[in-house]
Amino acid sequence: MAENTTTSSVSAPLSVIIIGCGRVAEKHLKAISKLKGLELKAVVDTNPDSAKRLLGSVKGFAGVKQYSDYKTAIDEVKPSIVSVTVPSGLHFQIAKYAMEHGSNLLLEKPMTMSVSEAREIFELSGKTGLKIAMGHIYRYLPIVGLIKEDIAEGKFGKVTHGSIYVRWGHGEDYYQSAAWRGTWKSDGGALMNQTIHAIDLLVWLMGSEPEEASAMIAKRIRNIEAEDLGMAVLRLENGALAQIEGTTATIPSKHTAEFSVFCENAQLTMGLDSGKPHIAVYGVKPNGKTKKLNGYYIRKQFKTGGLFSYKCALNPHLGIYKDLCDSVIENKNPIADAYAGFSSVDTLLGIYKSAKEGHPVSLPLKDDFNSVDMTGFFD
Ligand SMILES: NC(=O)c1ccc[n+]([C@@H]2O[C@H](COP(=O)([O-])OP(=O)(O)OC[C@H]3O[C@@H](n4cnc5c(N)ncnc54)[C@H](O)[C@@H]3O)[C@@H](O)[C@H]2O)c1
Repeated sequence: MAENTTTSSVSAPLSVIIIGCGRVAEKHLKAISKLKGLELKAVVDTNPDSAKRLLGSVKGFAGVKQYSDYKTAIDEVKPSIVSVTVPSGLHFQIAKYAMEHGSNLLLEKPMTMSVSEAREIFELSGKTGLKIAMGHIYRYLPIVGLIKEDIAEGKFGKVTHGSIYVRWGHGEDYYQSAAWRGTWKSDGGALMNQTIHAIDLLVWLMGSEPEEASAMIAKRIRNIEAEDLGMAVLRLENGALAQIEGTTATIPSKHTAEFSVFCENAQLTMGLDSGKPHIAVYGVKPNGKTKKLNGYYIRKQFKTGGLFSYKCALNPHLGIYKDLCDSVIENKNPIADAYAGFSSVDTLLGIYKSAKEGHPVSLPLKDDFNSVDMTGFFD
């Protein structure tokens, strides 16, 4: 997306409201509590108990105003930033209303549930100059940005392929905790909810756009409408292939996510294993010998981002809020911007379409596709 070159007249602290006071909202609140440049003005939830519980979960927010209707909150507070943390099927209507009323967004993933809605939100951001930082947490983990830069500069030669797995087990208790979970209309399955931001990361690191998707999805053990297991292969415009596995049908106490990128002269793997980050980066020196580059990246990250960047490993939303705040004030694009939101929805829905139709599909999708178009797939 092209940079808007006009100078911003906005200065910190920026006012924020959070719409949707459930599980992820707590990470948002913790991040806001750690940043001086943000001021929480209100929280919104159709369930007042959820709003109250959220405000009580972090010290210092007990007196913040509560609303039950997002339109009233946006109209009255006129916040600089609206954080959209409602069920995914509601992202579009709230994001659109907030931008039409002048607010920048921290928009949770997936941006929307259909390609046409994602395009509309992306285009609205371009037209208004309002910023969108997506809740694509993986882009904000330490070292990831440094690796992105080095791959993009060609330091490791040609990118051959990449792979991710997201084995994010969730039991029936998780799916039964809210009626929207695991439904085609409001959530999608393991790929749309748990894997979309990892797909975004892989494609971003590999530095090219997806042009074709082939996929299969399955429902193995979870009692939900959508998939609990999906596997896909993407062909990128630069010819590289990307392999994807996303599932919630694994043991809930063993959440693991890992991504690898393979280049002519390097192989890079990073991941999270039950919350613990790991990294293994190997490069080939001009003399042909292999060198482990972990220490190099750890030191470089500390020099450029200090302790703050390492705190983002524990709560990446801290990095997203800081990035959004800087982007609004300095009038630049966030790291996970509106285009990332649109493109990842397009790729994910291409994966669903391929699984539904049983053949590879070209990306970007020419016609609209909506997660609800998958209704009845497993019947
Ligand atoms: N980036 C990440 O790492 C991450 C992690 C978890 C969830 N998410 C995303 O965050 C979103 C929320 O997920 P969650 O697990 O927190 O869900 P949740 O069900 O725990 O919370 C959603 C909250 O929204 C409220 N809500 C529903 N309709 C509303 C409305 N019209 N106005 C105001 N509030 C309303 C509900 O009452 C509930 O409290 C989803 O889109 C999900 O994909 C992102």
